[in-house]
Amino acid sequence: MVYLLGIDIGTSGTKTALYDRRGQSVASHTIEYPMYQPQNGWAEQEPEDWWQAVAGGIRAVLAASAVAPGDIAGIGLSGQMHGLVLLDEDGRVLRPSIIWCDQRTGEQAAWLEREIGRERLVAVTANPAITGFTAAKLLWVRDHEPDVYRRTRHILLPKDYIRYRLTGAFATEVSDASGMQLLNIGKRDWDAPLLADLRIDRALLADVYESPDISAHVSAEGAAATGLLAGTPVAGGAGDNAAAAVGTGVVTEGRAFTTIGTSGVVYAHTNEMHIDPAGRVHTFCCAVPGAWHVMGVTQGAGLSLQWFRNQFCGSLQSEAHDRGISVYRLMDELAATVPVGSERLIYLPYLMGERTPHLNPDARGVFFGLSAMHETRHLIRAVLEGVSFSQLDSLSIIRGMGLDVDDMRATGGGATPFWQQMLADVYNCPVSTLAENEGPSLGVALLAATGVGLYDSVPEACAAAIETAKTAAPDPERVPRYAAIYPLYQEIYRRLEPLYQDLAGLPL
Ligand code: XUL
Repeated sequence: MVYLLGIDIGTSGTKTALYDRRGQSVASHTIEYPMYQPQNGWAEQEPEDWWQAVAGGIRAVLAASAVAPGDIAGIGLSGQMHGLVLLDEDGRVLRPSIIWCDQRTGEQAAWLEREIGRERLVAVTANPAITGFTAAKLLWVRDHEPDVYRRTRHILLPKDYIRYRLTGAFATEVSDASGMQLLNIGKRDWDAPLLADLRIDRALLADVYESPDISAHVSAEGAAATGLLAGTPVAGGAGDNAAAAVGTGVVTEGRAFTTIGTSGVVYAHTNEMHIDPAGRVHTFCCAVPGAWHVMGVTQGAGLSLQWFRNQFCGSLQSEAHDRGISVYRLMDELAATVPVGSERLIYLPYLMGERTPHLNPDARGVFFGLSAMHETRHLIRAVLEGVSFSQLDSLSIIRGMGLDVDDMRATGGGATPFWQQMLADVYNCPVSTLAENEGPSLGVALLAATGVGLYDSVPEACAAAIETAKTAAPDPERVPRYAAIYPLYQEIYRRLEPLYQDLAGLPL
């Protein structure tokens, strides 16, 4: 038997999972770690915590499964995108990693756009300057911690730091590198003119591979720390969204997925590069060699429902506890008793500002149309509908770019049967769940399986390992009712946009 190891270095923890060649999970172990917020809007993690979680996770799955290390054919790495890891000439970490959701870099993003020009930045990196992306974080270190910058010899992303600890190699791959805002997305390599204009030395950046390619092999040190066999191949891997795409089989034209985790993502595969000139959605290289993806991000998706649960659903939480069921199931049941449109109540989910389609950190959440007739169940349904409309914003832009999505897959904790049906009705497109909700760790295990030659291509690996479970078809009666509400949902933001700025500027 051969096995594949998939490792996903997430924000709340690292999941390490062993799969057989058909993607069946043999053992899985998750180790959590903290995120530090030393100032408002800052977010950092310790790369050593990631490494301890990876080494501990590998030892745990080897022990739990009794799989011989020599039977592991390959390793795939996935992880949170955009994080900045800086190493000195001895490979030592110079400062905590500034991670994807850190928002300290407003000034650097503005400088980047002025220096390079928005049009060129979008043409080369497929995105306008974004505070969360790695380039702005690097510029922040250069501006504020010049001594750290001067001592930097290697710039790595989170999962690529783990590759370094496992193998000693400085390597990355196209999907994660796309989120650094230094890669030429069309050419799938670092953009030399951009690096020259930003005065960033190319030698600081890692070698770029395609995602299934074998980038390195486990070193003697990596083997001693984890129990793996030295020489085990490590594939390029992928950023968490591109990895989730492989793990859900979204690797061919026409397929897309929706995740509802803390944030929400709508991701569509494309064989041709499409860029939104307005920069409302991200275009990145995907894990299928020679292909791309377009992706929109709702900052406060599952977060909206979690916030509502925590603030207003105390008695529901006790009831769920007494009945031994999830409070989200009770919330779904209550929402199902309310008609489409929540009796003229519309929710905007901008609790954490917004990325797609508004890229506005000052946007705030709204309940529009509250009446004395509304009960908790109406507000719950309005939250679910508002988040779905926000995901539709991403899908509408993707469709407007000429991508024809006819197979949408739902993944992540928020993919309950009720929400799945609502998405099918709001999107007017069938939405399927997966037989196994494994996501990024399975995706990168399949990339490794392809890299070592168990499959000829990523789509072939997915065809062998990924199965859809239940498909929700759009309901012909509900589709036009949601379609009638959506323009008003969009108009509320348009009218409020200038007021959000006034709100942010209040001297409070
Ligand atoms: C993608 C993004 C997040 C992170 C964290 O652009 O910011 O999905 O990858 O998981």
